[in-house]
Amino acid sequence: MRVAVAGATGNIGSLTVAALRRAGHDVVRISRSLGVDLSTGDGLDAALTGVGAVVDATNAPPGDRDGTVQYLGTATANLLAAEERAGVAHHVLLSIVGIHGIEGNPHYAGKREQERLVAAGPVPWTIVPATQFHDFAEMVVGWTEHDGVAPIAPLLVQPIAPADIADILAEIATGAPQGRYGDVAGPDPQDLVDMARRTLTARGREVKLVPTWSSVFGLEMSGNALLPGEGARIAPTTFEEWLAQQR
Ligand SMILES: NC(=O)c1ccc[n+]([C@@H]2O[C@H](COP(=O)([O-])OP(=O)(O)OC[C@H]3O[C@@H](n4cnc5c(N)ncnc54)[C@H](OP(=O)(O)O)[C@@H]3O)[C@@H](O)[C@H]2O)c1
Repeated sequence: MRVAVAGATGNIGSLTVAALRRAGHDVVRISRSLGVDLSTGDGLDAALTGVGAVVDATNAPPGDRDGTVQYLGTATANLLAAEERAGVAHHVLLSIVGIHGIEGNPHYAGKREQERLVAAGPVPWTIVPATQFHDFAEMVVGWTEHDGVAPIAPLLVQPIAPADIADILAEIATGAPQGRYGDVAGPDPQDLVDMARRTLTARGREVKLVPTWSSVFGLEMSGNALLPGEGARIAPTTFEEWLAQQR
């Protein structure tokens, strides 16, 4: 089957490309650096020729709420319109667990807009809400660290290995559309500050972590807000196993 992966050069997109190829599928890679831009639609029609399913694993640059909604909304609308023209039979969106209960996060507003457009759109779909990835704590430190000090919220998360979510996206994309899929998560709850500390140690980096709710993530994201719901699909790779692979 021919499957297109939008965001093919990204963290999850590149692993999804690899998972699809391992399973013997013909993969079309989509990203701006590969000459296809969802923001303008440039290159999309040619890229989707003969494609049966599309996985959307794109991302938005950091921005405010309106900018993020605009970026992800425009990209999703352009992608869905091109899929309809090409006769694509299945659109798979990688989304995030908990976004419907958290108003204040700009990225989550953009993800809700993506979900809204996909669910109302012309192409049969599956929306896959995933928890944070095992490298999420490191990414957050990358956003906030200045002069060796990084504020970070003590979020309770149940992270999933990037390769595990990629395998699940590849499996779902090559099956029938399922509408809203159940939450997908890793095996164990974790404290984001502890994840950051252990990742930095594994990388041999010294950064002073300052637990706070006054940085990127506010109190609205505390408690169980980011944990998967009942009956979630639990992927196998633990944070410890992933960390051991990083050393
Ligand atoms: N981080 C987490 O813990 C987490 C958890 C659950 C879900 N998610 C979701 O997972 C998704 C993927 O995240 P990621 O970390 O894998 O992303 P990433 O590494 O930042 O990769 C983003 C990809 O999108 C492409 N892209 C961006 N804008 C584009 C455009 N206008 N046209 C075509 N391609 C474009 C980028 O390539 P170019 O720059 O070359 O265009 C890149 O290939 C995100 O939507 C995020 O919301 C993240």
